[in-house]
Amino acid sequence: MLTVDEINRLAAEYAQKHPKEIIALALESAQSLAISFSGAEDVVLIDLAAKLKKDIHVFTLDTGRLHAETYAFIDQVREHYGLALDVLSPDPAKLEAYVKDKGLYDFYNSDHHECCGIRKLEPLKRRLKNLDGWITGQRKDQSPSTRNDVAVIELDSSNSTVDKPLLKFNPLANWSSKQVWEYIRMFDVPYNSLHDRGYISIGCEPCTKAVNPGQHEREGRWWWEEQTAKECGLHEGNIIAKD
Ligand code: ADX
Ligand code: SF4
Repeated sequence: MLTVDEINRLAAEYAQKHPKEIIALALESAQSLAISFSGAEDVVLIDLAAKLKKDIHVFTLDTGRLHAETYAFIDQVREHYGLALDVLSPDPAKLEAYVKDKGLYDFYNSDHHECCGIRKLEPLKRRLKNLDGWITGQRKDQSPSTRNDVAVIELDSSNSTVDKPLLKFNPLANWSSKQVWEYIRMFDVPYNSLHDRGYISIGCEPCTKAVNPGQHEREGRWWWEEQTAKECGLHEGNIIAKD
């Protein structure tokens, strides 16, 4: 396993490299590695990884609240790349108890963290227990307030233990949205049809809306909340790093 110094050195060395080289580094550095696919533009990761290795592991967190278009897209990607895609569901007992107590739209009245905790975070943490590395589609330009310091390779401080360190790779960290879309168009990569209807950042259906020209993509996520640090907890290290 890489030491913290080695991780920092690699982060500096790979910062300006092409995402494909960062994915190659991930494949070399972690024995048990998976891509975390949200059903949006991060499909680029799958396209790049599939060019390097046949049997890549990919998982998606099915919150039960995704758009119909996202479900259709996830299945399209599964077939297009011949993936044995892991579609992870929330713990049924926790989810049922939460919905019984708070209803199906509690996040509009309080904040989204309890619902995200049950529908996304718990299944993610369950999956990460069996990995020593994961790949995400985070980019700096998605959220200047929380993602500006995202490195291409980092120790996932929120999900590592002393006995089991976890590497986190963010191969698109230094790519802009424009570069992602140039890649999608150039290589005819399948994409979520919601992108043709003004959606940029896509999460769950009740918590995502299309944005107007000139609005930042993050304004379409949890738009009723005032806070500027719009993170659901999947990448809690981004918030901890800012504290
Ligand atoms: S979120 O934290 O606000 O929901 P965002 O939608 O920006 O995250 O996506 C950033 C990265 O987090 C994605 O590229 C993907 O790697 C991971 N991610 C987000 N949502 C999911 C999901 N439902 N399933 C799997 N990975 C996800
Ligand atoms: Fe729940 Fe909304 Fe979070 Fe999805 S994004 S898990 S619906 S609060």
